[in-house]
Amino acid sequence: MTQTSLVAPQRSESSGPRTLDVERIRRDFPILGRTVRDERPLVYLDSAATSQKPVQVLEAEAEYYRSCNAAVHRGAHQLAEEATDAYEDARRAIAGFVGASADDVVFTKNATESLNLAAYAFSNATAKAAHAPDTVDPRFVLRPGDSIVITQMEHHANLVPWQEVCAKTGAVLRWIGVDDDGRLELDELDTLIDSTTRVVSVVHQSNILGTINPVEAIMRRAHEVGAIGIVDGCQSIPHMPIDVTSLGADLVAWSGHKMLGPTGIGMLWGRHEVLDAMPPFLTGGSMIETVFMDHSTYAEAPKRFEAGTPMVAQAVGTAAAARYLEALGMDAVEAHEHRLTGYALERLDDMRGVRIIGPRDNMHRGSAISFVVEGLHPHDVGQFLDDRGVAVRVGHHCAWPTCRRFGVPATTRLSTYIYNDTADIDVAIEGIRAAQEFFGV
Ligand code: ALA
Repeated sequence: MTQTSLVAPQRSESSGPRTLDVERIRRDFPILGRTVRDERPLVYLDSAATSQKPVQVLEAEAEYYRSCNAAVHRGAHQLAEEATDAYEDARRAIAGFVGASADDVVFTKNATESLNLAAYAFSNATAKAAHAPDTVDPRFVLRPGDSIVITQMEHHANLVPWQEVCAKTGAVLRWIGVDDDGRLELDELDTLIDSTTRVVSVVHQSNILGTINPVEAIMRRAHEVGAIGIVDGCQSIPHMPIDVTSLGADLVAWSGHKMLGPTGIGMLWGRHEVLDAMPPFLTGGSMIETVFMDHSTYAEAPKRFEAGTPMVAQAVGTAAAARYLEALGMDAVEAHEHRLTGYALERLDDMRGVRIIGPRDNMHRGSAISFVVEGLHPHDVGQFLDDRGVAVRVGHHCAWPTCRRFGVPATTRLSTYIYNDTADIDVAIEGIRAAQEFFGV
């Protein structure tokens, strides 16, 4: 495949955490140059929902389609060979970005599917065990009374699939509570995760509260009782240097579109031995070893989990995103966001009538900041900001139980990334102040 001639901005040579050149970065994101709502410059503060895409990612995808589009892992022609190479090169690049081996990274259509793949491994193994116990790994077989432990700050994607597993198997769902500061109540850890626990699945960085959880300690406890440990890395992997192999988890899920990549692709990293022990989720072509009329055998991971024609262009685009972030340096990305988050927290905290939902201090927290404005519905705040060109997310952020925990129906959430600067926060703050004045609250 012809490589794009567009290169990602390079790291500076100075030692220590580098400073991001936001002005230079913004030139790579065509969408940030557009105006919205009566020619107002776009202020994009919704990267926790989805990140914008640099031209390097757009071009990598387009170049794949222009030069070598074909169905991968089948066909003997040159295009099929080049497309397969592009797909597997992308897997190596994305795996390298998170410190993993390519054989341990499964492509799915999004992080929700990655988490469902994990959840279905348990319900499928449990169903199979009733008829053919010798064909399944007992670690995935659940019995009534077994427990699955999550947290009260999970995104619905790491909550609803486990509710379904419980309904199918008789297992019981437990959760680690959240305190008033938006931190996990870890005092309960050793009692919540006990000898009945077979799965522990927790979010690394909350999409609504911004809290960064000590997943290593939680995974350690999961392994002490022999449970499978799962981490939802959607909001952490795009924003900080992460080696998935050092989190102590068995499985880690994340998506491409929140790390500058295209929509339509997710990843599931797994310890190879665990992936190989898991029954397939989707079945059909590409994931098999042999097929007879009455039964089939399956390929090894990761192919076992990639039934059908996969997301080749999306994988190529996500690999370009990983290269872009690596060129900036993930330590520099993390330092930049930490600075912006500290600034935004301080400015919001200074405002009359604004309550931050989540940690107010800038320790162990990421750049998603949720808040409510006294006397105003979050949707009105969002609409007011939108009129000024500021894109934020409002609602329950697919974390409805977390909103209930804080007694709010919804929040307004601003979330930053590599292309934001303090000036963007200032525009949002002025917008919130103007909304308060306009509505007289
Ligand atoms: N999970 C994404 C969000 O938090 C969609 O907005």
